[in-house]
Amino acid sequence: MGYGKVILFGEHAVVYGRPAIAAGLSKGATAKAERSDSAALIFPGWGKTIAPTSDEPVGDAYRAVLGALECEEPLRITVELEIPAGAGLGASAAIGVALVRAICEARGKVLSEAEAADHAFQWERVFHGNPSGIDNTIAAFGGIGWFQKEKPFLQLAAAKPLTLVVAHSGESSSTKTMVDGVQRQREERPERVNEVFDGIEALALNGKRAIEDGNLRHLGQLLDLNHALLSSLLLSTERIEEICAAARSAGAYGAKVTGAGGGGCVVCLADEERRESVLKALRSLDCEPFSATVG
Ligand code: PMV
Repeated sequence: MGYGKVILFGEHAVVYGRPAIAAGLSKGATAKAERSDSAALIFPGWGKTIAPTSDEPVGDAYRAVLGALECEEPLRITVELEIPAGAGLGASAAIGVALVRAICEARGKVLSEAEAADHAFQWERVFHGNPSGIDNTIAAFGGIGWFQKEKPFLQLAAAKPLTLVVAHSGESSSTKTMVDGVQRQREERPERVNEVFDGIEALALNGKRAIEDGNLRHLGQLLDLNHALLSSLLLSTERIEEICAAARSAGAYGAKVTGAGGGGCVVCLADEERRESVLKALRSLDCEPFSATVG
């Protein structure tokens, strides 16, 4: 399996070497590989079967994984996705991790988390061009983690599990397009964008402390501030603002866009007592909220 994820702090800044905090969801992607006469990658949910010779991007990613794993025997791999794609929940990385694990298991090898994350990076690279590595890492490890490019991944010990509510704006966006947009802003105004990244980094550092101390009020404020900085990089939308505002009014400690932005999902921090009222408020906005306990 590969876990879906939400990013609590540091998306986009993480592409430029800043730290980020992400949490694995209990759902994501599962895959099963069986020996067969011919190799195929099957997505029953999308009614799609991909051959290793396919010229679609997913065919390129499939070949990249087979190459990285030096897998030449024909395997029929079936992938089921439990989270929406293009929603900032790390669907493609979850598929990548589930896929490499399934291929290795069919060949009698169980991968460590770090190995699964490394191999799935080949898959991610095809779709995202310049991924930081946070999605495939958290898809392999789960839990709550502190990620920084080229540094060891750190699992965080939350003082208590976090109750989150995740809601989908209904707007889909491409991670590559959003990452390219931030890159353009950074090329045009490097000082301004680097200052925003400085702010995001400080929030991630304080967010780590708040998670370890179990200080939900403080953590919620930091999430709101991270959201404001992401909005300043044009990564929010009217619909996302509407969802964040409704969640906060219903008692969420904080709410922010999560992942690439420009649509996708909002993550809200609640607790056992506040969860139902946040869910109710977001259900009335038709944004298919679900709650998740992480850490
Ligand atoms: O793919 P998404 O929407 O979960 O976004 C990944 C996080 C980014 O920081 C925007 C990109 C990256 O590679 O870190």
